[in-house]
Amino acid sequence: MLTRRGFAARLGAGAAALRMLPEMAYAQRAAVQTSAMAKDMVWLNANENPAGIPQVALAAMNETLPSAWRYHYQEFRDIYAAIAQSEELAPEQVMVGAGSSEVLHIAVDSLTSPTRPLITVAPTYEGPVELAKALGHPVVLTKLRADYSADVHKLVEEAGRAHGGLIYICNPNNPTSAITTKSDLDWMVANLPPNTTLLVDEAYIHFGESPELSSALPYVREGKNVIVTRTFSKIYGMAGMRVGFAAASPDWVAKMAPLRINVVSIVSAKGVVAALSDRQNILRDRKAAMSRTRRELCAWLKDRKVGYIEPQANFMMIDVGRNAREFISKMPAMGVAPGRPFPPLDNMLRVTIGTDQEMAKFRDVFWKVYKA
Ligand SMILES: Cc1ncc(COP(=O)(O)O)c(C=O)c1O
Repeated sequence: MLTRRGFAARLGAGAAALRMLPEMAYAQRAAVQTSAMAKDMVWLNANENPAGIPQVALAAMNETLPSAWRYHYQEFRDIYAAIAQSEELAPEQVMVGAGSSEVLHIAVDSLTSPTRPLITVAPTYEGPVELAKALGHPVVLTKLRADYSADVHKLVEEAGRAHGGLIYICNPNNPTSAITTKSDLDWMVANLPPNTTLLVDEAYIHFGESPELSSALPYVREGKNVIVTRTFSKIYGMAGMRVGFAAASPDWVAKMAPLRINVVSIVSAKGVVAALSDRQNILRDRKAAMSRTRRELCAWLKDRKVGYIEPQANFMMIDVGRNAREFISKMPAMGVAPGRPFPPLDNMLRVTIGTDQEMAKFRDVFWKVYKA
């Protein structure tokens, strides 16, 4: 296991850049260059939620702000207990971090090594893959199945071949918006090779409508060798507040919690607890609103015989029928910024589901470029 200090020492100057990865990732990799930014640009590139911060969270954060000159450390035990309780977990099974980025970082840092690979699919969320590579740990990328789902048999086979590793599954997957079904997860958990942990990133799970989509949290509750990460950045619309958590065995949490940089901000923490107090309504209403807009986009594409991957998250991949890189690069000048290209899905454009108004503009610009 590698501490953050050891990690920084090993990477030297490179470490400083790596620590900044999330900020740099969004700024540098966006399909849009600063010079091309229109003032009224419709941003559909980062899977943010236009519903924004829930009112109840905003009120709690406003109320907390004047007292944020104190550390408030003594309050965090109860705050973390509230987060744990929201998912029927014991507080010892939960580690809260600055977004799920921080807890994913710790999982990859601690559960991969020069002889223990990160094993995942391509394409998937790049944070874990890039961290493993930067650490000099092997990364095994497997191909998606024809229906864009993860090939769980291959993932398990690769873990066996490596005599153990960290299998990372993003469910629903970013960028495809496709899912790993409950039966595939069940099979994988039952067949994990020795020395292998399954890391399931559920950043977008609340947006899914498929009856085959199911959280991996029950495996954590059952004490299986599974870690689940969740975030308040997506359906809760609190990306800038930076709160996420990992659910895992108490042993793992006890070992990993000291590797966090620090506690999250008291303002964010109070906002999250307030949002959880209205959790059922927030999740139901936001999922319903996003799903309706997503269904409209799917119907519009179907009418025009444009292919897409059946979406289960708040973004979707559209087959533009040619290399998408140039297609994507044309859109910002017309006022819409979609996601960057995601090789090896070279013909696919990823778009975040925004407001109805934003999606109307997206359709307009998309169609102009598509027809050109
Ligand atoms: C699949 C996935 N996991 C994790 C993250 C990190 O999000 P955050 O650190 O805001 O929780 C993202 C960000 O977009 C993501 O797409």
